[in-house]
Amino acid sequence: MISVATIRRLEKAARGAARAAYSPYSEFPVGAAVLVASGKIFTGCNVENAAYGLCNCAERTAIFSAAAAGARKLTAVVVYTPTRTPTAPCGACRQVINEFGPHARVISVCDSPARLDTTLDALLPGAFGPRSLL
Ligand code: THU
Repeated sequence: MISVATIRRLEKAARGAARAAYSPYSEFPVGAAVLVASGKIFTGCNVENAAYGLCNCAERTAIFSAAAAGARKLTAVVVYTPTRTPTAPCGACRQVINEFGPHARVISVCDSPARLDTTLDALLPGAFGPRSLL
């Protein structure tokens, strides 16, 4: 169980992370915060590229940062978008979340009180993952 206080910290971290977004092409700054098994929070923002296909979403930036610090289990992912309605992670990010957090809680927040609160299982049923290779 993730406490309400921890969820609030994650939301605040995700909103703050969007301030570092590098999104000159889409002008759509996104922030993400992930909670790992140790209780640490890692953040990320979207980082775009003039070669558009290389744009990296905020969720993946945060997860790769956590993985690079040695974390291997994701408990929750919170994404903030500057919109009136919440935005669920894209398909690529769902796949990357699945690698480290197949049962992670996934919460999307935005600039209105509307929010999505779901799980990776619900967002990516029947996922291909590490166990598929055994
Ligand atoms: N983006 C994210 O960072 N996360 C999402 O959940 C949705 C999309 C980014 C990718 C790109 O930089 C911009 O938003 C527009 O798609």
